[in-house]
Amino acid sequence: MSMVIAEHLHKTFGRFTAVKDATFTIDKGEIVGFLGPNGAGKTTTMKMLTGYLPPTAGSASIAGYDILDNPLEARRHLGYMPENVPLYDDMRVYEYLDYRARLKGICGKSVRTQIGEVIDKCGLEPKRKNLINTLSKGYRQRVGLADALLGNPDLLILDEPTNGLDPNQIRQIRELIRALSENHTVILSTHILHEVEMICNKVIIIDQGEIKAADTPANLTRNLRAAGRVTIEYKGDLNTIVSELEAFEPVKKVIVEDSSDGWNRLMVRAEPGTDTREKAAAIITAHGFPIRHIYRHIPSLEDVFVEMTRRD
Ligand SMILES: Nc1ncnc2c1ncn2[C@@H]1O[C@H](COP(=O)(O)OP(=O)(O)OP(=O)(O)O)[C@@H](O)[C@H]1O
Ligand SMILES: [Mg+2]
Repeated sequence: MSMVIAEHLHKTFGRFTAVKDATFTIDKGEIVGFLGPNGAGKTTTMKMLTGYLPPTAGSASIAGYDILDNPLEARRHLGYMPENVPLYDDMRVYEYLDYRARLKGICGKSVRTQIGEVIDKCGLEPKRKNLINTLSKGYRQRVGLADALLGNPDLLILDEPTNGLDPNQIRQIRELIRALSENHTVILSTHILHEVEMICNKVIIIDQGEIKAADTPANLTRNLRAAGRVTIEYKGDLNTIVSELEAFEPVKKVIVEDSSDGWNRLMVRAEPGTDTREKAAAIITAHGFPIRHIYRHIPSLEDVFVEMTRRD
């Protein structure tokens, strides 16, 4: 079942187009990473999904409810943690969540139960009576997450949940998101590619307001240019080896990267999906030249990101 269906979402601010014709779907249970450079349109897209920002054109639905025709139902199915969590500094954690719960229309006994649950899920128990302005950034993020979780929404939309945190806090929040994903569909935006590789099963890459790719990390890296790269270091004649390697079919180009310590480091670029290590090693050893290193490049999401968002 699709948790989110976005169709031709479009947003302009005056003459500037922030999001162009964004169409994508997100299935129930997925953890989706929105990736893109600063100003790409991630926050704008998220705000349109939450109903905080009306699209200039296009439509979207959350859990089957259209964000324009059925905004209240749609919102009831999602929890949103904005980019800069606006917390009330002079409230205690418990008071703030109580206030937020009532704003969301939660009432009666379930206010207490729900606050207890989100405090528990987000590890806020030791801080429940603390004033928000005395909390560290990591705990403030947890309060933002707890807020998003009130009402137990099917979908969590988290805008840069780990922004500004130290590596330990990042790991804690990441673990928390991973745990939450057992019961919630999650969309998060981030600049940390490694983070997406670790927790997301789908990636949506946005650049200059356009969706460039939407797929699993494995599918995105498979057909990349970087997927056909092999690095070799050997000692011996350079020109012979370079021309013999270049004569080999899947090889497109051989680049000499370094020869400064007497060993030649070559980067062999071949068709994506091919592995030239065996043949390259055979060519070099046939001349009796020693090899000290041979390595097939495993493309990362960083390679995907660079390839999709490069300006040249
Ligand atoms: N209210 C607004 N009025 C005018 N322009 C806006 C407004 N909101 C966003 N923009 C512009 O739209 C573009 C996309 O902004 P958005 O905040 O969606 O980017 P982002 O991908 O979230 O970036 P970041 O990684 O920096 O958070 C930017 O160029 C931004 O300046
Ligand atoms: Mg943003």
